[in-house]
Amino acid sequence: MSTPWWKEAVVYQIYPRSFADGNGDGVGDLAGIIEKVPYIAGLGVDAIWLSPIFTSPMHDFGYDVADYCDIDPVFGTLDDMDTLVAACHAHGLRITLDWVPNHSSHQHAWFVDSRSSRDSAKRDWYVWRDPAADGGPPNNWRAEFGDMPAWTFDETTGQYYLHLFLPEQPDLNWYHPDVEAAMHDTLRFWLDRGIDGFRADVINLIGKDPALLDLPDGPGKPILTVDEPATHRMLRGIREVLDSYPHSPMMVGEVCLFQPGQVASYLGVGDELHLAFDFRAIFARWNASHFRRTIAAIQHDSLEDPEAGSWPTWVLSNHDQPRHRERYGSEARARAAAIISLTQRATPYLYAGEELGLPDAPIPPEAVVDPGGRDGCRAPIPWTADDGHGWGTPTWLPFVTDAATLAADQQEDDDTSMLSLYRRLLALRRSSTALRSGSQDLFDVGDDVVAWTRRDGDDELAIAVNFGASGVEVDLSGHVVEGSVRRDVPFDGQLAPDEAVILRR
Ligand code: GLC
Repeated sequence: MSTPWWKEAVVYQIYPRSFADGNGDGVGDLAGIIEKVPYIAGLGVDAIWLSPIFTSPMHDFGYDVADYCDIDPVFGTLDDMDTLVAACHAHGLRITLDWVPNHSSHQHAWFVDSRSSRDSAKRDWYVWRDPAADGGPPNNWRAEFGDMPAWTFDETTGQYYLHLFLPEQPDLNWYHPDVEAAMHDTLRFWLDRGIDGFRADVINLIGKDPALLDLPDGPGKPILTVDEPATHRMLRGIREVLDSYPHSPMMVGEVCLFQPGQVASYLGVGDELHLAFDFRAIFARWNASHFRRTIAAIQHDSLEDPEAGSWPTWVLSNHDQPRHRERYGSEARARAAAIISLTQRATPYLYAGEELGLPDAPIPPEAVVDPGGRDGCRAPIPWTADDGHGWGTPTWLPFVTDAATLAADQQEDDDTSMLSLYRRLLALRRSSTALRSGSQDLFDVGDDVVAWTRRDGDDELAIAVNFGASGVEVDLSGHVVEGSVRRDVPFDGQLAPDEAVILRR
């Protein structure tokens, strides 16, 4: 059997509001993405993932979907989407969409119907319960956003509905067979239009405890760590839909779980998700022991059950967390991090803008728009050094502080830029089976240095990263094929602070 495409792919996440502005209204759109397809393909990534572009009142900027089968006018039209799919395919890129199955918008026709009366045919498509004896919410679950219960009382029908996120994001009841079928249809709608797969939003939440029991920890916020057996049955149903298409569509799930083996368990025995995000890397701090432990844990979990063919992901940034350039605090570290990400035995997910070394934008209080406090990592991408940076004004969020210096056009022809580094690393990964699919073995060269090999037959590379504050000498030899500060030189055994090298031996 040939290797599935998603095992050897690097996926580029686009947050559409912030990527490129095709119509000059200060908000990114599909027309903007279409214009940038050659740029994306030129990076050397294999696929893109678009954060939600569906019809939405935008209380959570698209993660509140009012129609799973249409495009929000802010982004464009279904025709634009078809054009984008064709442009991606013409450039050898696959395109995946963000599917938000746990909740819809409160403006989705299903919820409007459901809340209209207790007798609505769609009443049980959402989770409705009577008030507790004291008139309060049915259990102690707290919403992820805002300091509020995960329940909102609906005056019209005298019951509470469940929302693990905003009140504008009512949870769908995946235990109802019609919900499951309707959501499968939304997948088919996009698969029929040539979409290559999906990123499934907070997928581990869909099979929440059917008894809705109080959480033992009281009113904390542990709700995202739901890990119910029922979800696995639901995932097998979803997988059947995907497998019924000949073009090998892939689903990667957002699984916010952190115990050993938990993320990998959502791959089933190759019959659930194809891939699952492993966020342990995002939460590793910049030091050798954290990174060594994280790499080891992610690799260990994927090798646990070789029969299942489980394959890991690697993520350092996305639209929900401060960018890694911001978290690690320097360009030197961000350059080393690029080398770490693109030399893992995993499917790396890159977040648009990391190839420019973007930090977060400072957001003054009057510019805050996100209920989850995530505006900083969603700043618009600066394409050009001039004042507008390629955008209509005003933009929906401010640019990063150094936008003029970090702009793509400033980095384009500079061999030493972050953009050039990413392009070379992606080309190296494409040219090396060791990097794409070879084995990965950590080895010991001193406390502050994390080192590993990637091997496939004769193709063998060694990667070493110095997380320490001082230079170190390491017992390694070879040719530096790529590095965060030097390339194409024989290795002299010295690693500066925050330096990473890729050696061919
Ligand atoms: C996921 C998304 C996040 C969104 C939330 C609710 O965590 O990544 O952006 O707010 O789900 O849909």
